[in-house]
Amino acid sequence: VKIGILGGTGPQGRGLARRFAAAGHDVLIGSRTAERGQLMAAEDAQADDTSRITGGSNFDVAAAAELVIVAVPYAGHAGLLSALATELVGKIVVDCVNPLGFDHHGPFPLRVAAGSAAEEAQQLLPDSTVIAAFHHVSAVLLDDPTVDHFADDVLVLGEDREAVAIVCELAAAIPGARGIYAGRLRNAGQVEAFTANLIAINRRYKTHAGLAITGVS
Ligand SMILES: NC(=O)c1ccc[n+]([C@@H]2O[C@H](COP(=O)([O-])OP(=O)(O)OC[C@H]3O[C@@H](n4cnc5c(N)ncnc54)[C@H](OP(=O)(O)O)[C@@H]3O)[C@@H](O)[C@H]2O)c1
Repeated sequence: VKIGILGGTGPQGRGLARRFAAAGHDVLIGSRTAERGQLMAAEDAQADDTSRITGGSNFDVAAAAELVIVAVPYAGHAGLLSALATELVGKIVVDCVNPLGFDHHGPFPLRVAAGSAAEEAQQLLPDSTVIAAFHHVSAVLLDDPTVDHFADDVLVLGEDREAVAIVCELAAAIPGARGIYAGRLRNAGQVEAFTANLIAINRRYKTHAGLAITGVS
């Protein structure tokens, strides 16, 4: 699959890009600035000794990719997706955005009028298939080439079974990880919000905590 990553120049997008490329996918790294996307892609391609990663503007990436991952901060989420609605028609759009705030007590979930970032994405992209996934995988671990096994389960939420299956398969590109269906998009809010708990765990225990579901083999 040709995978585009909007905001692919950040730690989460780059980490996912490297893992997907290593699993044999072509990956396009998107940025608000085409040159920055190309530069980061060139660095990643060199680091991974692969020509599977290329880059450009978010617009070019959205237009060229078959499946698109949204990896921008929540503050830029709605504006970016509204601007790319035409390019994303008919595509699977995977939203990993966690709408979080931070204050002196630590992380907390932001209230989203649509219920979640993923539902907001679906409202803004009525002709795309939005899937929520990859909210809890640590960008630090994804980007660390010495980490070759993840015990994480990737919760995958959506309305379309076929699209959910495709994204579950994509999750398995992260070595050791599993994609697990976790409900429809109306349940994405608590999945996004749970990241605040994981960040609190990370801060207390100085780790990169992930999520694993028991009882599913
Ligand atoms: N970091 C993690 O461990 C992690 C884990 C799971 C999920 N997530 C989610 O993944 C998303 C990306 O995380 P990140 O840590 O990689 O974020 P980030 O570094 O803050 O942002 C990623 C990229 O988004 C672009 N961007 C920044 N502000 C923007 C705006 N207002 N509008 C459009 N694009 C903007 C920037 O790229 P350009 O300047 O090149 O355009 C930036 O490099 C977040 O929503 C986060 O909740 C993160």
